[in-house]
Amino acid sequence: MGDPLDRDAALALDMADPLRAKRAQFALPEGVVYMNGNSLGAAPVAAASGMDRAVCVEWARDLIGSWNLHGWIRAPQRVGASIARLIGAAPDEVVVADTTSVNLFKLLVAACTHRSGRSTILTEPGNFPTDLYIAQGVAATLPGRTVRTVTADRLSEAIDDDTAVVLLTHVHYRTGAMHDMAAITAAAHARGALVLWDLSHSVGALPVDMNGCDVDLAVGCGYKYLNGGPGAPAFLYVAKRLQDQLASPLSGWMGHGTPFAFDDDYVPAQGISRFLCGTPPVLGLAALEAGVAVFDDVSPADLLAKSRALSDHFIEMVEARCAGQGLTLISPRDASRRGSHVSFAHADAYALCQALIARGVVGDFRAPDAIRFGFTPLYLGFEDIWRAVDTLATVLEERAWDRQDYKVRAAVT
Ligand SMILES: Cc1ncc(COP(=O)(O)O)c(C=O)c1O
Repeated sequence: MGDPLDRDAALALDMADPLRAKRAQFALPEGVVYMNGNSLGAAPVAAASGMDRAVCVEWARDLIGSWNLHGWIRAPQRVGASIARLIGAAPDEVVVADTTSVNLFKLLVAACTHRSGRSTILTEPGNFPTDLYIAQGVAATLPGRTVRTVTADRLSEAIDDDTAVVLLTHVHYRTGAMHDMAAITAAAHARGALVLWDLSHSVGALPVDMNGCDVDLAVGCGYKYLNGGPGAPAFLYVAKRLQDQLASPLSGWMGHGTPFAFDDDYVPAQGISRFLCGTPPVLGLAALEAGVAVFDDVSPADLLAKSRALSDHFIEMVEARCAGQGLTLISPRDASRRGSHVSFAHADAYALCQALIARGVVGDFRAPDAIRFGFTPLYLGFEDIWRAVDTLATVLEERAWDRQDYKVRAAVT
C-alpha cells in the first residue's frame, strides 16, 4: 500500500481498484464522502427505475394480475436466493420477509421450541439493542426461558447443556469487532445448542459462509450494505436440515403450504417459505432486488480485500494526522478481527460528527461517545478516505465542532 498521507498515492490505488466501476451504479451526491453505508446504504441507480417499473407498469397498468404476471408472489424467495449467494447459503435457504427484529423473533421462538428441554438464550451484553430486546420478549413469552449475557471472551465456555440458542451479531454495530463464526458455531453444536447469527453488519461488505460454518439460523438487514433503501425488508436464513423441523410462531397465511386454498387450519409450507408471514412488501422488494443485483458480478475476495484496505488506510491516516486530538480507536486494529466499519471514541463525538456532515463527510454517532465510519467497498475509494481524514484533521485542529448547534441531538442520531 502507498503512503496513506499522500493524495496521489490514494488516487493511484483507486486507479488499480477492481471495484472502481461500481461507483457509477450509485446515485451519490457530488462532493459527499458517504461513510454510512453500514447504516443506510446509498441508492443504486437501478433502484429508481426498478421502483418506477413496479409502480407505473406493474401496479398502475397490470394491477392485481402482477402477482402472477410479474412474479410478485415469488419475490421473497427470488430475492432471498440472490442474497444466499452472498452468505454462502443454498438458494432455497434464504427468504426476504418482515424486519430484522421480526425475523429474530420468529427464529428465536422456533429455536427455543425446538430445543424445548433447555431454558437459556445466550448472548452478549452490548449486542445491538433490538437483538437483546427481542430475546427478552421471547423469554417473557415462552414459559421458563431466560436471557443470559456473557462477554465475548467467555462466550464459548459459557455454552452449556441448558443453552437452547446462542444469539450473536457477527460484526458488532458499535465497535466493528467480528466474532469467529466457525469456532462459536462449532462450540454451540458440541453442546447441543443452536446458533442464530445477525448478519446485518456483514452481508454485502464481507463474505460469510453459512454452509461452510454449518450455521443453523441467521437474519440480516436489507437497507445497510445491501442498499435496499430506508426500511427495506430483511432476510432470514434457515439451514435446509432444520427447515421442516422448525415452526414459525407467526403462522400467517403466506407461510401456509397452500395459502390460496383458504383452509381454516394452518399447515406450514415445506421449506423456507414457512417462515413468511403476511403479504410481501412488493415495492420494498423491488428496491432491494436492485440493490442486491449490484453484487451479481462482484467477487467476494475483491469485496473483502477492499474493505480491509480502506479501513486499514483510514486508521493509519487518522492516527498520523489526528494524533493528540482526543480520538481513541475502539475497533480492533487487526483487520481480520474487524468488519467493515471503524469507530473512534471522542469526548464530543456527536458534535464532531455533525461538523463532519456539514463538510460533506457522512459518518454517524453511536452513544455514548463513538463516531463510526463505514467502508462500503462498492462506492468508496481511497481518495475519498484521504479527503475524509483531511477534513477530520481540519475540524479537530480548528475545533470547528465546538458549536452549540452541533451539540443539540436530533431524534435520529
Ligand atoms: C445488528 C443489527 N440488527 C438489527 C438492526 C435493525 O433491525 P430492524 O431493521 O428490525 O430495525 C440493526 C440496525 O442498525 C442492527 O445494527
